Amino acid sequence: MKILFTCLFAFIFTIMSAPMIFGSDSDDYAPMKYERENMTETMRISRGGQLYDNWWKTSADVEKPTEDHPLWKTQTDNKRSGYSTYRCKECHGWDYRGKDGAYSKGSHYTGFKGVYEASQKMSIAELEGVLRGETNRDHNFTKFLSQEDIADLALFQKHGTIDLMKLVNTDTSLVGGDISEGSSFFSKNCMTECHGPTGTSINFGTEERPEFIATVANKNPWEFIHKVRAGQPGTRMSSGIINNWSDEDIVNMLAYSQTLPTEQPKAGLIDQLLSMFGLGEKEHVGNAHTEHRGFGPKLEQ
Ligand code: HEC
Repeated sequence: MKILFTCLFAFIFTIMSAPMIFGSDSDDYAPMKYERENMTETMRISRGGQLYDNWWKTSADVEKPTEDHPLWKTQTDNKRSGYSTYRCKECHGWDYRGKDGAYSKGSHYTGFKGVYEASQKMSIAELEGVLRGETNRDHNFTKFLSQEDIADLALFQKHGTIDLMKLVNTDTSLVGGDISEGSSFFSKNCMTECHGPTGTSINFGTEERPEFIATVANKNPWEFIHKVRAGQPGTRMSSGIINNWSDEDIVNMLAYSQTLPTEQPKAGLIDQLLSMFGLGEKEHVGNAHTEHRGFGPKLEQ
C-alpha cells in the first residue's frame, strides 16, 4: 500500500512539475541560437520575413539602436523615433509597397518606396548589397545585421514576398476569403496550442487596450498576412511559409478571423476553476512587448 502511495505521489509530482522541467509557455521566450547548418531554405525565408518585421527580436545578441535611422531625417511625416525607424516594415510597409501601399497615408507615411518591385527585379546578391549600403551608404545595416541575417532578408524578399494587392483591397476588404473554410483551418492550426477557440487567449496589447487575432485581422490585414506567413519574431508561432500554406488558406483564415470577437469573453465558472490550477486556456498579456523579445509587438496605431 505504501509503495502504491509513493508511486502515486511521484506520478502527480512529475505531472505538476512537467512545465518546469520541459519549459512552460512563458512570456520571456527568447529566440534560440539557430543552427545554420540545420536550416532549410524555407526556414531561412521565413526567418528573413521575421527579420523584416522586427530584426532585433529575431536575431539573438544584437544591439538595439536607440537613435533614429540615418535616412529618417529625409522625411518629416512619420513622427516615430528610435528603434521603430530601423524596422524594414516601418519604411517599406507590411505589404512591401511603401508609399504606394497601405502606408500611402496615415501616421506611417514616409514617402519611401516599397521593396516589392525591387524584389522582383534585383538578384539576391543585389538585394544583399542594398543592406550593406552599396546603393546608398545610409542604408547600411551591417552594424546590426550579420551576414546570415542579410542573406535571409534577401532570400525572403526574393522568394518570400507575395503580391498582397491581389489579396487585400486598399480599404482592408478582402479579395475572396471563405469564412467556413477559414474556420476549420483556424481550428486545426491556431486554436488548440495558442490562440484558443475565439482567438482571444493571447492578448498582444495591454489589459486596458487588448488586441486579439480579430483586432489585427480587421485593422491591419497586411500585417496579419505577413505574420501568419513569416511567424511572429521571438516566439514559437508557426510559419505559413514553412508549413506551405497557400494564399487561399491564409485569406480564408483571415476572413474567418475578422469575424472573431475583439474582446475577451467573460470566463465561466469552469474556466475560473481550471485557471486556478494553471489549466485551461492560457492568457498572455503583452506586458513587455517593447523591451523583451517575447510576444508582441503591439498592433500599430
Ligand atoms: C529608415 C527607413 C528605411 C529602413 C528602416 C529600411 N529602408 Fe530600405 N530603403 C529606404 C529608402 C529611403 C530606400 C531608397 C534608397 C535609395 O536608393 O536612395 C530604400 C531602398 C531599399 C531597397 C531598394 C529598393 C529599390 O527599388 O531600389 C531595398 C531592397 C530595401 N530598401 C530593403 C530594406 C530592408 C530589407 C530593410 C530592413 C533591414 C530596409 N530596407 C530598411 C528606407 C529604409
